[in-house]
Amino acid sequence: MSDGRKTIVVGVTGGIAAYKTCELVRALVRDGYRVKVVMTEAATRFVSPLTFRTLSAEPVTVSMWADEPDAKIHHISLAEEADLMVIAPCTANVIAKIAHGRADDMLTTTALATEAPLVIAPAMNVHMWRKDVTQRNVAVLRSRGAVVIDPTHGELACGDVGEGRLASVESIVEAVAAEAVRVRDLMGKHVLVTAGGTHEPIDPVRYIGNHSSGKTGFAVAEEAARRGARVFLVTGPSHLPDPFGCEVVRVQTALQMRAAVLARADAADVIVMSAAVADFRPATASSDKIKKTDAPAQITLERNPDILSELGARNGGAVLVGFAAETSEVEENAKAKLEAKCCDLIVANDVSDPVLGFGTDENRVLLVTRDAVERLDVLPKAAIAREILDRAVRLLEER
Ligand code: CTP
Repeated sequence: MSDGRKTIVVGVTGGIAAYKTCELVRALVRDGYRVKVVMTEAATRFVSPLTFRTLSAEPVTVSMWADEPDAKIHHISLAEEADLMVIAPCTANVIAKIAHGRADDMLTTTALATEAPLVIAPAMNVHMWRKDVTQRNVAVLRSRGAVVIDPTHGELACGDVGEGRLASVESIVEAVAAEAVRVRDLMGKHVLVTAGGTHEPIDPVRYIGNHSSGKTGFAVAEEAARRGARVFLVTGPSHLPDPFGCEVVRVQTALQMRAAVLARADAADVIVMSAAVADFRPATASSDKIKKTDAPAQITLERNPDILSELGARNGGAVLVGFAAETSEVEENAKAKLEAKCCDLIVANDVSDPVLGFGTDENRVLLVTRDAVERLDVLPKAAIAREILDRAVRLLEER
């Protein structure tokens, strides 16, 4: 079936807006996709399967139990074939079922079984859309990476006025096109990312820290999740919200970060150590707040373990990406760090540049591998995350 066309599975559920899905199917076919329609029983009350079969020139599936002449067709065939699944219109009932993992007909079974991206265009009565429970279910779907195209405001078939109308066919086609081209080259891989700085306590209210915001690491984690990876993000204190689709462990100190990283390192295919781990910690942390009258004349520091060096020495098989924050001789220092810490890639930046680096949204980095040194332009951190993962995927393929 590989004639170069991508397969879009279009799910149709039981709402009056199902008639607009005929236009959606036509538009997708016109745009060069193979379109396979799966309907709920209720949807067939609104539009006949024959209509979709004629528009898509493909068989339409409704039941799990039909006597299929082709033995290769089974209950997860569509899920496996799909490059993308779009459900339009999607009723409150089907949103609830998918959010909770129910699979009691062909459409919901396909939605549960597929690894492909999911685009959902809800349409329903305004009161059903606004109900807490529906909004919570929608949030669950979004947190799993589904693209939900909000319904629009207007007059509804039931006579009410409000939001609940199926989004325009053009906006659904646009969302499908954007998701269909997303690279999924980390599908099935485990990616472990560290981010932020660590806080090394002096007493319960004071610590030694640094200026790291965590933005680069969070961007790497989010991008890896979008590319299909299972992502663990271990971060020091950061105000940033959990990135989409990642399992997040929040720690304070270098020792806590080390424990969290080592617990997950063996399962990782790629490890990106973007955290600015404190190299030193106070040798003792007071359990009581130190009064200003008792201010110590000096604080004795001791070395923290170097997590990246430990990972390099273990040689666990993962592609190992380290960072280097330098103030001079960036390339030389990065190359030395690559060797010393047994990394596959070092992302180096010049932190002496006052307008770039910590806390900003852009940076200029040097990517250093054993074979090459690449100097990137000033880029948004999300773009730097893409560049880093492109290199990591390449290094993974060379293994
Ligand atoms: N790193 C680490 N554990 C530490 C310190 C650093 O894992 N205790 C990691 C960082 O996450 C980063 C890399 O090591 O990926 C480089 O850290 P950097 O502070 O730039 O270099 P250092 O090795 O500490 O060397 P120096 O301070 O001498 O430049």
